[in-house]
This record gives sequence, C-alpha cells and structure tokens, in this order.
Amino acid sequence: MKRAENNTNIRTRNAEETKKIAAEMGRKLLVDIQAGAVTGPVILALQGDLGAGKTTFVQGLASGLGIDARVTSPTFTIMQRYPIPGLNGSLYHIDCYRLEGGEQLDAIHFNDIVADSRSIIAIEWPERVGARVPRGAHTVKFREGRRDEREIEIDFS
Ligand SMILES: Nc1ncnc2c1ncn2[C@@H]1O[C@H](COP(=O)(O)OP(=O)(O)OP(=O)(O)O)[C@@H](O)[C@H]1O
Ligand SMILES: [Mg+2]
Repeated sequence: MKRAENNTNIRTRNAEETKKIAAEMGRKLLVDIQAGAVTGPVILALQGDLGAGKTTFVQGLASGLGIDARVTSPTFTIMQRYPIPGLNGSLYHIDCYRLEGGEQLDAIHFNDIVADSRSIIAIEWPERVGARVPRGAHTVKFREGRRDEREIEIDFS
C-alpha cells in the first residue's frame, strides 16, 4: 500500500501554473540527480482523463530539466525522447493511449528504457500498460475541477 503522507496535492488555476509546478519539479530532479541524491530511473505514471493536463505537465517538466525542444503529445508516435543537456540521460515521453499491444512497447525497447538509470520517463495512460509499469513508479494524478482548475496529486514516495 502506498502511504498517503508522501502525497502532495497542488491546485493549479490554468495551464501555465501546471507548467510552472512541473518545471520546478524538473529543476529539483535535475539538481538531485546531479548531486547523486536521486538515482534513476525516475518513472512518473501520469493518470487522468483526456485533456486533464498530462502533456502540459510534461512540457513544464521538460523545460525544468533544461530541454529546449518543443514537447508535443506523442499519441501517435507512442514515444518521444529528449536528451537532457545537464545529464548523460534522456527524458522519455510515452503515451499509451493508442497502444494496440505489448509488441509496440517491445519495438520501442520499453523494458530497457524503464530499467536505465539515466532515464526520466513520463508515461501517459499507464493503465493501458498494466504490469509493465515498474513498481517504483511515482503516480501523478490529474483531476479536473471547475473551469481551468486542476488538482494534481504527486506521490513522492
Ligand atoms: N490547470 C490546467 N492545467 C493543465 N492544463 C490546463 C489547465 N487548465 C486548462 N488546461 C488546458 O487543458 C488542456 C490539457 O491538455 P493536455 O494535452 O495537457 O491533456 P492530456 O491529459 O495530456 O490529455 P490526453 O489524454 O488527451 O493526452 C490544454 O488545452 C490546457 O491548456
Ligand atoms: Mg497527453
């Protein structure tokens, strides 16, 4: 059982705020990895409905990690890799929404990526991958509120 006290709830009022908190997380992650305080792979399982803000969060995360590239939804490509300038590693953005079977994960070498200590992996629609998401993954839950409000619950355990 995951311990609820390791969870943090953040409410954002618009997409920019979601990007901002994700960027802060990315910056902290980068510093912690560089200092050896955190060792990868760091896996984020992003849960939430269509349009809840998962890709928006990854855009902020990428910018906090120092990635300049424009991050777009990898819905059709399944995976997009972005080298992290300050690390000998990459951010992998994976979207399982349109996944048709495990073979597609094999084709992108999913198991190797999630076992690589130099990887930061953000997975949208992790429910569709089931048991292939490693147990150490941190869940990030997105809930839609009124208008542009979103509640984001991050499991830091
Ligand atoms: N507080 C907020 N946080 C994040 N996005 C917000 C917020 N308020 C409004 N939005 C808008 O909601 C949409 C979120 O889209 P996004 O692509 O990030 O969702 P998603 O969870 O990745 O969906 P999908 O499952 O289709 O990939 C964007 O149009 C964004 O501008
Ligand atoms: Mg998305």
